Amino acid sequence: MAKPQIIVLDDSQALFVRAAEEIVHVSGEAICTHGQFALALTGGNTPADVYSLIATRFHLSVDWNAVHLFWGDERCVPPDDPDSNYGMANRIMLSKLSLDPGQIHRMRGEADPEIAASEYENELRNFFSLNEGEFPRFDLILLGLGDNVHIASLFPGSPALHETRRLAVAVEVDAPQRKRITLTPPVLNNAARVMFIVSGKNKAEAVKLALEGPRNPDKYPAQIIDANQGEVMWLLDRPAASLLSSSVAE
Ligand code: 6PG
Repeated sequence: MAKPQIIVLDDSQALFVRAAEEIVHVSGEAICTHGQFALALTGGNTPADVYSLIATRFHLSVDWNAVHLFWGDERCVPPDDPDSNYGMANRIMLSKLSLDPGQIHRMRGEADPEIAASEYENELRNFFSLNEGEFPRFDLILLGLGDNVHIASLFPGSPALHETRRLAVAVEVDAPQRKRITLTPPVLNNAARVMFIVSGKNKAEAVKLALEGPRNPDKYPAQIIDANQGEVMWLLDRPAASLLSSSVAE
């Protein structure tokens, strides 16, 4: 299991800037080594400021022609719905970039969840030229952390936490926007890098459980991430890291 790199930033603004810097860095590395950057975005509120920084201050630092954007999960709502993860990224970032539609691989939240999940699996198979039984290798997957330690739309007790074959599944979660589509654990763990972005005191308990709690991925889904072939990075602000027994302060 890859030991996660834990980086603690003084405050949320420093966290968001560091997250944007890491995304830029990984994009350059990926594009230099294999000509493209496959990035899976996270939803929720935390990444909004990161996406805004990427679209403005860091816009010129990314070779956008070589970037393909995916999502780790999506709520089953239309793309222009205020709760859509795609919609949030589009309002804040995509609308400010001149990407070709073929570079944006959204989960179709407006469709029947099972159909949308299967469609997304096909989209992943096609883009990554996967054979049966193979998993996509994203250059970077961004993850937030729910206060119940969920990641993407993999919630505590979800059968999807035990999915070993499928690439994306439809799930029902105990949260607003109950119906969702999510990437599965084998896809998340096949990434070259997984980067958590977690801000705020309200996440301190979840961070503690994820990183230092008793091992129980069913109860604490973030623990399922071990990026067996890749790197795992936790970017935390000081409030979110405040309950950790030891963390690298940066
Ligand atoms: C979603 C996200 C989800 C999110 C966490 C944290 O669709 O909501 O993918 O996993 O990252 O719930 O959300 P906040 O950043 O809003 O706290």
